[in-house]
Amino acid sequence: MLILGIETSCDETAAAVVENGKKILSNVVASQVDLHRKFWGIVPEIASRKHLELIIPIIKESLGEARIKLKDLDAVAATYGPGLLGSLLVGLIVAKGLAYALELPFIGINHLEAHFYANFLSYPEIVLPLVGLIISGGHTELIYLSKEREYEILGTTRDDAVGEAFDKVARILDLGYPGGPVIEKMAEKGNPQSIKLPLTHFKNNSLDFSFSGIKTAVLYYVKDLERKKAPVSTADIAASFQLKIAQMLSKNLFKVACLKKVKQIILGGGVSANLFLRSFLEKEKPDHIKIFFPPLELCTDNAAMVAACAYPKVKQGKSSPLSLDAQPNLGF
Ligand code: KG4
Ligand code: ZN
Repeated sequence: MLILGIETSCDETAAAVVENGKKILSNVVASQVDLHRKFWGIVPEIASRKHLELIIPIIKESLGEARIKLKDLDAVAATYGPGLLGSLLVGLIVAKGLAYALELPFIGINHLEAHFYANFLSYPEIVLPLVGLIISGGHTELIYLSKEREYEILGTTRDDAVGEAFDKVARILDLGYPGGPVIEKMAEKGNPQSIKLPLTHFKNNSLDFSFSGIKTAVLYYVKDLERKKAPVSTADIAASFQLKIAQMLSKNLFKVACLKKVKQIILGGGVSANLFLRSFLEKEKPDHIKIFFPPLELCTDNAAMVAACAYPKVKQGKSSPLSLDAQPNLGF
């Protein structure tokens, strides 16, 4: 079964063809990062206009790479939320139009759920129940997955998402956009123990996260050095920040995993591409738990995970109505 996946929820225009929910025949991603860099973040209007320009060529490229024609497809899937409204609409409308014209099932996909499918797509040994953590530019979601598609949210961020904290700290340090990869690179040369930053946690056994405190602490630390005309060690700040983030994530993640008595954990979202975080979690995890990280190219937004997420639904004969609207605030 061949499914065309389309993803335009944020600033990546992506299309992919996946066979039987497992085999990636093509996975084309056009990142708009260069366009948004000078604004230090995504400008929604620019993002949706660019999606409009790129979506058809990207779909053509993905079909070409998969060496198939439109008539070979069995279903068309697209992200319908959460994300930027104008961006979501582009992928969604094109997917619905294609499905209608080709008389194929159309499947609307939840972007958060799709991030988990980056793992299901790659590792057949994953079994439920498990604990999942999505860490991206817009989300920090700690989830218990007991049965297929039954998601229980156990913890979320009360302010900034983790990726957002990386992006904001990179801006404070004048490192560029997006923040995650540049902070990771800069941190390699720094001492993670050199700067004291706060470790936020909540009372009453809450499993929620907060990342705005650590961002503000970095801001005041830098301002203070500047006021004193003291040198700022960007590498030390980046390394200390990255370590604190890893500690905050691991604390709640392993607490939940033990509470729910699971043997497997899956990660997803752009921040799960961070190699320091990966090795930190591997070191800190209880022995009986196995952690799965998506392959690097499937951590950040892509459409292979969208097509993979649609597969079980199509197999069960399910589809979404063509009236399905974009839902910018869609949750689990
Ligand atoms: O999943 P994603 O591509 O888009 C959203 O759904 O938000 O995640 C993008 C986020 C950005 O905030 C970016 O700074 C962060 O993921 N990111 C990283 C790394 N690569 C991307 N954060 C930390 N380390 C990385 N290597
Ligand atoms: Zn994402």
